[in-house]
Amino acid sequence: MKSVGVMETIIEKVDPRQIDEHIMEQAGQLIAEGELVAFPTETVYGLGGDALHPEAAKKIYAAKGRPSDNPLIVHIAEFSDMERVAKTIPEQAKKLADAFWPGPLTMIVWKSDAVPSATTGGMDTVAVRMPNHPVALDLIRKSGCLIAAPSANTSGRPSPTEAQHVAEDLSGRIAMILDGGPVGIGIESTIIDLTEDKPMVLRPGYITPEMLSEVLGEEVVIDPGIIAADDTRKPKAPGMKYKHYAPKADMVIVDGAQDAVVAKINELTAARQAEGKKVAVIATEETKEQYDADVILCIGKRADEDAIAQHLYKILRECDELNVGEIYSECFQTPRIGQAIMNRLLKAAGHTVIHV
Ligand code: TXA
Ligand code: MG
Repeated sequence: MKSVGVMETIIEKVDPRQIDEHIMEQAGQLIAEGELVAFPTETVYGLGGDALHPEAAKKIYAAKGRPSDNPLIVHIAEFSDMERVAKTIPEQAKKLADAFWPGPLTMIVWKSDAVPSATTGGMDTVAVRMPNHPVALDLIRKSGCLIAAPSANTSGRPSPTEAQHVAEDLSGRIAMILDGGPVGIGIESTIIDLTEDKPMVLRPGYITPEMLSEVLGEEVVIDPGIIAADDTRKPKAPGMKYKHYAPKADMVIVDGAQDAVVAKINELTAARQAEGKKVAVIATEETKEQYDADVILCIGKRADEDAIAQHLYKILRECDELNVGEIYSECFQTPRIGQAIMNRLLKAAGHTVIHV
């Protein structure tokens, strides 16, 4: 017998190269009726609901166990949809949309009256993104709605990069999951705030401040609140203040020259094992053979930063399943998306870093 309040979650595979119209119509219909549907985007899976319907936003917060003061991103399929949710459209938004939409960039602008405060967590601004994924764009169009979607994980867990991760967290709590396979990028969109004096990155992602600055022809600053390791400055994006992505085990990042890092991690591993702890190491193709830990999780080739970003959340989820007591990770300060990767990794480790 089903317990009260638990619903059957429909899980449907959708091939992004050959979209099943029938399934997508059903999914669009559910959104239009105020239900929740999880769907793939190019960054991570999203948990979608009608962005202009306050009840849908409430359902999203409840399903994720998310604090309702943490605003949702509104997903659109045409640039003209931005006129419905923005009070005015800054010139900068047009430039950035031309260069990066559809794509992994979210823009913060002043909101219109059409957007309920339930969607924006009570803020006067709204986050808008046009995702670069055929299933996501088709879902928005078929629903006839704009879709509010946070990442489709339980609040506090790593964002989902496969439909299986969504099912682990949200089965029985949402109407449908569209399984479009593993995502391409693996970390959430870059967020740029266009309501400040200077454009400000509130969350680093695949699109870097340099890329944004190049298109805008002006300086782009980074929210000082996301760099501080302590609580001296609060990040402007409410979601960035939560201790996100943290695996259950303690996690420590070891930074330095490759050989020194391997030696230090092996030394720490031996000490933890002597205390009877099970140890996992997050390593690369280049180093994975050199560790003595109980579990070695290979994140990819060090030179392939796209692969590192793509595998990060899956590996943090694996750490929980393996029931390890301690996790040591190499540092992945790679040239282009290293800032985005390290932002997530540092949060997972509670900013515990050993320099060797
Ligand atoms: O890649 C992504 O952006 C994914 C996919 C599904 O599109 N979505 C996503 O949503 O990461 P979510 O809810 O997990 O993260 C949204 C972040 C939160 O940190 C939230 O606080 C911030 O955006 N945010 C949303 N609206 C905001 C606003 N008006 N002002 C400041 N921060 C805002
Ligand atoms: Mg999230």
